[in-house]
Amino acid sequence: MNRILMVCLGNICRSPLAEGILKSKLTSNYFIDSCGTANYHVGDQPDVRSIDVAKKYGIDISSHIGRQFSVQDFDDFDVIYVMDSSNFQDVIKLATNNLQKNKVRLIMNELENSSQQFVPDPYYGTSKDFEFCYQLLDEVCGVIAKKLKSNIL
Ligand code: 4NP
Repeated sequence: MNRILMVCLGNICRSPLAEGILKSKLTSNYFIDSCGTANYHVGDQPDVRSIDVAKKYGIDISSHIGRQFSVQDFDDFDVIYVMDSSNFQDVIKLATNNLQKNKVRLIMNELENSSQQFVPDPYYGTSKDFEFCYQLLDEVCGVIAKKLKSNIL
């Protein structure tokens, strides 16, 4: 298991951060990508607030180019992590069989004792919301990286 897709709505705030953070915890033997369920920001760079919070922790996500989720992603990835329940519904409704459905997981479910079930959308928020988003993703990506390395994902 080494192909992980991070999915949010716009692919400019949460999922490019999740991609950059998980990549920073793994070697290049893993294929990590991100995309959005919507097409609003196809071709765009990540939101400058995500670029900035990642940069603060030594991660460069500025070269990511926004793209929309496609049904091909069900074949191209082993696990598809979504940020919230709306992303979950949007991806699940495109699945045509159980193999595809079983690949879709709410990312925060990887934490055993989290009070936070979703990664809240920071788009209409402030830099504080982007910091919160970074901290949530850093914690959960640490767990995901550990599980990937131990082959227990
Ligand atoms: P993201 O945030 O899903 O974390 O990338 C959003 C980005 C853009 C919009 C909504 C959420 N938008 O409505 O354009």
